[in-house]
Amino acid sequence: MSAPAPSAPAPSAPDPSVAAVVVLAAGQGTRMRSRTPKVLHPVGGRSMLGHVLAAAGPLGAAATVVVVGSGRDQVEAHLAAVAPQARSVVQEQQNGSGHAAALALATLTDLAGPVLIVNGDAPLLRGSTVQALVQAHHDAGDVLTVLTAAVPDPTGLGRIVRDAEGRVTAIVEERDATPEQRAITEVNAGVYVGDGAAVRAALARVGAANDQGEQYLTDVLGLLVGDGAQVGGHRAADPEDTLGCNDRRELAARRRTLNDRVLDDLMRGGVTVVDPATTWVDVTVEVGPDTVLHPGTQLLGATVVGEAAVVGPDCTLTDTEVGDGARVVRTHAELAVVGPDVSVGPFAYLRPGTRLARGAKVGTFVETKNASLGEGAKVPHLSYVGDATIGEGTNIGAATVFVNYDGVDKHHTTIGAHARTGADNMFVAPVTVGDGAYTAAGSVITTDVPPGAMGVARAAQRNVGGWVGRRRPGTPAARAADAALDRTSDDA
Ligand code: UD1
Ligand code: CA
Repeated sequence: MSAPAPSAPAPSAPDPSVAAVVVLAAGQGTRMRSRTPKVLHPVGGRSMLGHVLAAAGPLGAAATVVVVGSGRDQVEAHLAAVAPQARSVVQEQQNGSGHAAALALATLTDLAGPVLIVNGDAPLLRGSTVQALVQAHHDAGDVLTVLTAAVPDPTGLGRIVRDAEGRVTAIVEERDATPEQRAITEVNAGVYVGDGAAVRAALARVGAANDQGEQYLTDVLGLLVGDGAQVGGHRAADPEDTLGCNDRRELAARRRTLNDRVLDDLMRGGVTVVDPATTWVDVTVEVGPDTVLHPGTQLLGATVVGEAAVVGPDCTLTDTEVGDGARVVRTHAELAVVGPDVSVGPFAYLRPGTRLARGAKVGTFVETKNASLGEGAKVPHLSYVGDATIGEGTNIGAATVFVNYDGVDKHHTTIGAHARTGADNMFVAPVTVGDGAYTAAGSVITTDVPPGAMGVARAAQRNVGGWVGRRRPGTPAARAADAALDRTSDDA
């Protein structure tokens, strides 16, 4: 699941800001070798596109336009879910980033002022970096400012060509670059702020006389320089922010970087991360101070962990709330609420609708679904608890099944407060066990047990004397039985 990018415009747009945001997301992403459009691949809790939208979100632009093409149905459905305020513009044929930008700007003629144009495959881009670019653009009074980065390995990226005075004069794609230009290590990040009208006019003049036969957005820069317009390049404070993602190896690398950032933030905030290499936390997750994350922990989606909790080893928690002081060990949980001081696991499976009140316990090999445990209630061992309400202080015996499904419908079981149910019970829903009631081990409870009663629902025991000697003569069991019976008669 991808978490939404911040969708509502910021209450007040920062100054300086932009009138519109254009995200280029129509490319096929051939190098990903995927049925999924490249920009929809998830990284650390959002799609790549979601990260770009989140980075642009704080600008509070009046309009956000996303250019879609390859896999457009999937991209549009995703946008509707995570950024309903964004509008899509279709690029039927992927004739290049310049063509894509031109299509978007053609729909924005009524907006005056700067426009942010950004590649959709930049999952590490941060709001602060975008804001710094917009600020630089504003301060310099440029017509167009491009975000650049000095990188150790510029392979595959557009090179930033500067003149003797250090002014940006062109962006040259690697495949069109001269050997001298290829040696340049300052690259185009694919993030631009420019005057909407000027960029639109320049895009109309962009040709396709390059190695790929595409209309390059990057050519706008050289065209504007040729016009004598002032363009600039703003170097990103952190070059990692600018890294794109074109194949699965880069996807893994971006995911690692993003995760390291998230863990760094958590550790700065007082969270102990025992093994950062095997701990994966989405950007959308919150973890309180003095919580310890043990190896093999994944915190995903809208998960929130409180203070002084212990999570892991080996937990996957998705959209799950963990309260202060709770302990969750070797657990898989989704859409569950684990209250403060609760103990879960090892080897527990908390499914959606699980709600565990303060001090409750869900123990080893226990599965819960749509189940509420009151304060201090315990399901310690080997049980399935589906569609159930269990009152405070109640203990459920080992190996209990809440039989919630009759083959057609699901039914609810209610167990009162401070009840003690025996081991190996079946609660055949709908059924209620009252406050303070007991049930006998091995019972199949099909009718309500009143408060304070002992529910017994099992066949009375019958012992068939001498059966083993008669029916299994000569076996070790028969010999053991004979010996035991001899001893008993000797004693007599
Ligand atoms: C682009 C830049 C390059 C820069 C790099 C940074 C161009 C020509 N080159 O190269 O200078 O260093 O990004 O990562 O822009 N797209 C469309 N429609 C198209 C083609 C592309 O919407 O017809 C979108 C893609 O979905 C992508 C973005 O434009 O989000 C850039 O396209 P991509 O093919 O990834 O360009 P790069 O070769 O990475
Ligand atoms: Ca790219």
